[in-house]
Amino acid sequence: MHLTLQQLKLFESVYRNGSYTRAAKELYLTQPAVSIQLKRLEAQVELPLFEVVGKKIFPTAAGKAVYGACVDILARVDDLALSVEELKGEVKGPLELSVVTTAKYFMPRLLGHFLQDYPDVEPRLRFTNRARVVERLMNNEDDFVVMGQTPDDKNLETHPFLENILGVVAPPDHPLAGRKKVRLQDLAKERFIEREAGSGTRLVFDALLEKNGLRIEPYMELDSSEAIKQAVMAGLGLAVLSLHSLHLEQAAGKLVVLNVTGFPIKRRWYAVHLKGKRLSLVAKTFLDYILTESHQLLDIPQASS
Ligand code: PGA
Repeated sequence: MHLTLQQLKLFESVYRNGSYTRAAKELYLTQPAVSIQLKRLEAQVELPLFEVVGKKIFPTAAGKAVYGACVDILARVDDLALSVEELKGEVKGPLELSVVTTAKYFMPRLLGHFLQDYPDVEPRLRFTNRARVVERLMNNEDDFVVMGQTPDDKNLETHPFLENILGVVAPPDHPLAGRKKVRLQDLAKERFIEREAGSGTRLVFDALLEKNGLRIEPYMELDSSEAIKQAVMAGLGLAVLSLHSLHLEQAAGKLVVLNVTGFPIKRRWYAVHLKGKRLSLVAKTFLDYILTESHQLLDIPQASS
């Protein structure tokens, strides 16, 4: 059989995505280009690899057999590429990272510093919601991911590297703003602008309320800390946010952090990947960099309790 690696890569993507169109998009190719290569692969195998039922494609028995071999071959090629890269010792090439939205307040700066030392690295930093980050992590789609609330799964390797401190945020003229101590139950009477369900920030706040037998129905749900800050500044309600996101507004006196019992909630940021994953030299170097340098590189506000 005369198979090319390009054909196997295309086939793997079509199989995984269950669609020629999605595979073409993922690989930055046209749909006809994908179809032609797949036809050539089928001609080599001398059997159809997919069958069309309704509007969907399904792998045939031959398709499943080719997929099994394909995954092995591509993994071996990736492994070879990593070995060669390590032998060369050059920190260059792609760095694929997915991070939860709150990490946008520090990950670009860490990456910026790293790129000054390693200008030949080609980063791809994807900011997305926690659900998507977890999905990408489990599918091994990135070099590693960064999140605050890691899934409870023993197949994961988690590296803590920075504090993640959550506080209750209010506009400075809010009646609770001047209070020395605000009880958690006092918050239950307030309007809250909350992050989307499933976000790390939201999970932690909900868990604290539940532990104390309290429940707050969100007045509004927004999936962006920037939008939440605007809503809080506009007097629409209070919010729980990571202190990483507040630097500018706190310095400008536009937002204050309330002194609430149980707050600040001190947590960590984690770099996470599947256990046993072989990291590329670039990924390993960046991971070491953030584990050892992030405190010095970032000006992290210390929470007052
Ligand atoms: P989030 O994650 O952006 O999903 O809220 C941050 C965190 O876990 O604190």
